[in-house]
Amino acid sequence: MSKIRVGLIGVGNCASGLIQGIQYYRNSKEIPIGLMHEKIGDYSFDDVEFVSAFDVGKNKVGTSLAEAIYKQPNMVDWVKSVEGCNCVVKESPVLDGVGIYVENMIDPIQQSKDISELEDEIIEEIKESKTEILINYLPVGSEKATKFWANIAIKTNCGFINCIPVFIVSDKTWQQRFVDARIPVVGDDIKSQVGATIVHRVLTKLCSDRGCTIDRTYQINVGGNTDFCSMLERKRLESKKISKTEAVTSQLKENLNSKNIYVGPSDFIPFLGNRKLAFIRIEGRQFANVPFNMELRLDVDDKANSAGIAIDAIRCCKLAMDRGIGGPLISPSAYFMKRPPKQFSDSIAREMVEEFIGGKRER
Ligand SMILES: NC(=O)c1ccc[n+]([C@@H]2O[C@H](COP(=O)([O-])OP(=O)(O)OC[C@H]3O[C@@H](n4cnc5c(N)ncnc54)[C@H](O)[C@@H]3O)[C@@H](O)[C@H]2O)c1
Repeated sequence: MSKIRVGLIGVGNCASGLIQGIQYYRNSKEIPIGLMHEKIGDYSFDDVEFVSAFDVGKNKVGTSLAEAIYKQPNMVDWVKSVEGCNCVVKESPVLDGVGIYVENMIDPIQQSKDISELEDEIIEEIKESKTEILINYLPVGSEKATKFWANIAIKTNCGFINCIPVFIVSDKTWQQRFVDARIPVVGDDIKSQVGATIVHRVLTKLCSDRGCTIDRTYQINVGGNTDFCSMLERKRLESKKISKTEAVTSQLKENLNSKNIYVGPSDFIPFLGNRKLAFIRIEGRQFANVPFNMELRLDVDDKANSAGIAIDAIRCCKLAMDRGIGGPLISPSAYFMKRPPKQFSDSIAREMVEEFIGGKRER
C-alpha cells in the first residue's frame, strides 16, 4: 500500500508535534496511544509521509522540513531528530497570517514575488512532490491565507484538512466548490483528544441528558505558545469564539442566552509554553430548582492533544480519496473537528466514523 503524501501549510508547533509524534512511535515501536485504531483501512500512522511544506518564517523557508520543525518559535521537543521530511520548506504568501502580537516571534520573509507568481510555484511544488492531502495549520485569524490555500487544494486536486477556525468545510459555498471538484474535505478547527472543548461538551451533555437546566457556563483557556499569543488580538478571534461556543451549545437541548455563556481563549502566559490550562464552570439547577455547580481544571500539552487526531483525520481523508468520495466528510468532521458542517454528540459521531471506515457510510 502506498504511503499518504501530505503537505503542511504552516510549520509551527502543531506540524512539529505531528511529525515528532510519528517519529516517537517509530522509535519506540509501541502501539500509539490516542489514535482511533492502529490501522484505518490499510493505513497505519507510519504511512503518513510529509512531502511538501509551506511557511513564511525567514528561518524556516529554504531549510529542510526536518530542520524547520525545531526552529523558533516552535517548542515541541519530543525526539531529537526525525527521519525523512527532506522536502524544503517553500514560501507561502503572508497575507493575514502574522498578527501584531507575534511580530517579535515570527520574522516573515521579505516577499519579492507577486501572489500569482507564488501561486504558480506552489502549484508546481505540489505537483512535483505528488502531494495528495494538504493540512492547514495557519495561525488563528488567517482568513485570507486559508482561502488562498483552500483554492490551491481545489486547483491541485488535493484533499484538504482544515485544522483552524476559518470556516471552509462548514460554509455552504465552499462545501459546494469541494463537491464540484470531487475533493474530500475535513474541518473546521481540530478538536483535541481530551481538550477543553470535548470535556466541556461531554459535561454539558451529561447535565442536559440527566434533566438538569444549565443557567450559566464558562470555559477560560490560557497557554504560552504563539497560538495563544496570536489570540491576544481580539479581532483574529471572532471565528474561534463562534467555533468553540457552538461546539458546547450544540450539546444542549435548550438555547442558552449569549450573556450566560463565555467560551474562549483568554490569556497568554509565556512560561506555560505548549501547556494549556482550561478552567470550566457549569452552573445549573436540579430537581426542585435546587442549584448546583461544578468546576474543572484541565492541564494538557496542547500539541500532544491534537496530533493523534490529525493522523486519524488524514487517514480518513485518504480513505475517501481511495473511494472517489468528494466534498465534506460529515462523520470525520463531526468527530475530529469543533465546527463541522453538522454537529452530533461525540459518541454518535464516533459510531458514524466507524461506519465510514468500515465502508457502511459514504461520508
Ligand atoms: N490543540 C491544538 O493545538 C489546536 C486545536 C485547534 C486548533 N488549532 C489551530 O491550529 C493552528 C496551528 O497551531 P500552531 O500551534 O501550530 O500555531 P503556530 O503559531 O505554532 O504555527 C503557525 C505557523 O504558520 C506560519 N505562518 C504564518 N502565516 C503564514 C502564511 N501566510 N502561510 C504559511 N505559513 C504561515 C507561522 O510562521 C508558523 O510557523 C492554529 O490556528 C491553532 O489555533 C490548534
